[in-house]
Amino acid sequence: MTLEDLIEVVRGKGGKPHIVIVIGKGGVGKTTVSIMLGDLLSRSGKTLIVSLDQAKHLVKYLSLKDTHKVTRIDGGLHAVQFDLEKESRKFTAEYSRLLKQIMPGLKVLNVEKAADTIKNSPGFEEEVYLRYLETLYSNRDFDYIVVDTPPTGVTLRILNLPRTYMFWLGNLIELRTKIASLKYSISRVMGEKAEAKDPVLDKLYELRDRYQTLMKNLVDDSRTSYVLVATPEPLPVYEVEKTVHTLQDLGASVTGIVVNRIIEDEMAKRLGVYEVQRDSIGSILNLKCKGSCIRVGIMMNRTPPDTLEKAREAARKTISLAAPLP
Ligand SMILES: Nc1ncnc2c1ncn2[C@@H]1O[C@H](COP(=O)(O)OP(=O)(O)O)[C@@H](O)[C@H]1O
Ligand SMILES: [Mg+2]
Repeated sequence: MTLEDLIEVVRGKGGKPHIVIVIGKGGVGKTTVSIMLGDLLSRSGKTLIVSLDQAKHLVKYLSLKDTHKVTRIDGGLHAVQFDLEKESRKFTAEYSRLLKQIMPGLKVLNVEKAADTIKNSPGFEEEVYLRYLETLYSNRDFDYIVVDTPPTGVTLRILNLPRTYMFWLGNLIELRTKIASLKYSISRVMGEKAEAKDPVLDKLYELRDRYQTLMKNLVDDSRTSYVLVATPEPLPVYEVEKTVHTLQDLGASVTGIVVNRIIEDEMAKRLGVYEVQRDSIGSILNLKCKGSCIRVGIMMNRTPPDTLEKAREAARKTISLAAPLP
């Protein structure tokens, strides 16, 4: 199986845009593989590579000038770097507006304090990423969007968030329904004008709908493909195994696993990494995953494939993992 085979499967899935989420440990080649996949996909449709990785290697590899604007790279290929800081600011501002809107009694000082608390809450960054991911599904300017993610731990937390939210929102809606009906009854008893609509409850319903849709998209094979990347070493392989399980647990399936930077046997023996490499590839091949789960190997390049041209060149040297190494 080669990268082309993997692309073939992705192409056959449909969905506009179809989102390809690339996951792996830091340094294994996620950004490089994202460029390879984006480049190949751009031959059959307008493609955007989005890097959520704050290491911002995409900017370097593709020489993006205005990093946060969608830039056309070549043919149908486009790229953009996600700016966590900027999006976080936008997000807290949005929260402050919402707070003022649903709790008009709140003083400015309190709103600012609440916004500060939100910014420093655990899970805030993941939430910002998730919101951005949500916007990608409705970006109909592109046929394909390749998402280069932050390191595995953060990514898995992001993907788990909608499920956690659904649980919380379910409970909150129940609680708020009771509060709203009590408020309504009390107002009527007191002879005041009773407001049947509750803005907080409306907001909770709206959020629940949004996360439900997002959760559905994330596990829908026709909207989303997951490509996992590892180097032939124990830790990156372990992270791939963990990711396969987490994704399957969520109800999503893995479309491809790429083992990147494979060293030729002779060289691997000389470097004393032959056994480790062989065992790591063996673990990837033995991994049980539902769906097509295409496994591709990419050889270690003599020079880092840190430009589009070089990445293209390196992408041609993909190998089938089941066959003996060259
Ligand atoms: N097939 C390869 N051969 C040689 N070097 C590679 C290969 N793939 C990636 N690299 C290099 O490995 C380093 C990490 O790659 P990168 O794509 O930035 O990883 P990540 O996005 O996972 O952190 C970079 O210096 C990159 O040029
Ligand atoms: Mg990267």
